[in-house]
Amino acid sequence: MSVTSSDSASHSGALEGSSAALEGSNAKRGLWSSRLAFILAATGSAVGLGNIWKFPYVTGENGGGAFVLVYLLCIAIVGIPIMMAEVMIGRRGGYSPVKSLSQIAERDRLKPAWKLVGAVGILAGFLILSFYSVIGGWAISYVGTTASGQLSGQSADAVGAIFSGLLSDPTTLLAWHTLFMALVMVVVVRGVRSGLERAVSILMPALFVLLLIVVGYAMTTGHFGQAAAFLFQPDFSKLTTSGILVALGHAFFTLSLGMAVMMAYGSYLPKNISIAKTSITVSVIDTGVALLAGLAIFPIVFANGLEPGAGPGLIFQTLPLAFGQMPMGSFFGTLFFVLLVFAAWTSGISLLEPIVEWLEERKGMNRTVSTLGAGIVCWALGIASILSLNLWADFAPLGFVPMLEGKTIFDLLDFFTANIMLPLGGLLVALFAGWVMSRQAMEKELALSPGMFNLWLITVRFVTPVAVAVVFIYNLM
Ligand code: TRP
Repeated sequence: MSVTSSDSASHSGALEGSSAALEGSNAKRGLWSSRLAFILAATGSAVGLGNIWKFPYVTGENGGGAFVLVYLLCIAIVGIPIMMAEVMIGRRGGYSPVKSLSQIAERDRLKPAWKLVGAVGILAGFLILSFYSVIGGWAISYVGTTASGQLSGQSADAVGAIFSGLLSDPTTLLAWHTLFMALVMVVVVRGVRSGLERAVSILMPALFVLLLIVVGYAMTTGHFGQAAAFLFQPDFSKLTTSGILVALGHAFFTLSLGMAVMMAYGSYLPKNISIAKTSITVSVIDTGVALLAGLAIFPIVFANGLEPGAGPGLIFQTLPLAFGQMPMGSFFGTLFFVLLVFAAWTSGISLLEPIVEWLEERKGMNRTVSTLGAGIVCWALGIASILSLNLWADFAPLGFVPMLEGKTIFDLLDFFTANIMLPLGGLLVALFAGWVMSRQAMEKELALSPGMFNLWLITVRFVTPVAVAVVFIYNLM
């Protein structure tokens, strides 16, 4: 795609592949070939470690059913409306998020202060990617662990020891973290996502099928009913205010909301495609993958007497047990972790992309320099997360704050990004859509029936801001 202005230059990178096919219809910016192309890219961003690694472990830590219910509610009444708002702002503005927000604000005679939303989002993406890449590295490492066959017939203790062995070894962790970050940077620097996006349409269903296979195995453990009850029978005595904050934060994290990623993608969505339908589709797929991961993992947890609240290592201590026991386990296990790496990769790209675009647009750097610069700084920050797992495991820099007691740097990065920055970004998006954008423009973009439009507007005007504010205030007290 030719570079005619700094605008098209920075923007063509993100989605070049999908737009290339359509140069005829919109030569300057390119549009998604179809609703499907958008769904693939948005799903590629949304489905990642959040669904398979994070959802099960935060569910385990927060006592199961009641937490899951709050999480589902957050997806429905906060996540989906905000995803619609992000996509809508992106399509209406038609530029990168920072530019779209200030353009709409100006067009509607309001202050460009809304640029802040994009800026907070960019910082959040940067911080998330630094530890996301470390976990992506764990997933890469387990491709080898499963492929080697060393898991077959192992006990829970032995599988746990393999995982602790990995965490205690900073050099190995660093090597896999470096590889993951390099994979992300290679795609972002080349600005070519066509191959990856097409691959999503094959690999995501494959991941889904493999999860089903593990669920099938999990049913044979005799603890499937207990796991289903754990996930779907709410016990509100186990729900804490911090659990509600985690559920809200995770809804943002898993749907890739609150940092303007969906806004960037929305700017490529053709005008005649329903924002509501596509947003709901992406959210349903994303939630489905997470619930399936829960159904795959918890029967193994209970069958082996493991601790549901084991923390971030949960899937690496349970899934290898299943792969060690089921027929053709090495094969399925290897394939599973390859697909997990792939899902994390497409998400990682969507975390780095906004920073790179911003550096190009604002600082006038070319794509190579901005990708290398942002990627390397992010990689370096990741080292702090690696050390949090071993040498600095007892170092809690903000431990004097009661709420942050015992949290390592890794824990703090996760906490501040997912539970504070993303909901705050989402709150600003909701306020922007609810109170700043012109109603007329939004009615046109969303093309909903009057009843549905009003329902959505009330949600972003009142329900979302109040929900986020209440959860924040409760947690501060
Ligand atoms: N949603 C991804 C996951 O669940 C993570 C992710 C990718 C993300 N891009 C994002 C989270 C943007 C927040 C914002 O793994």
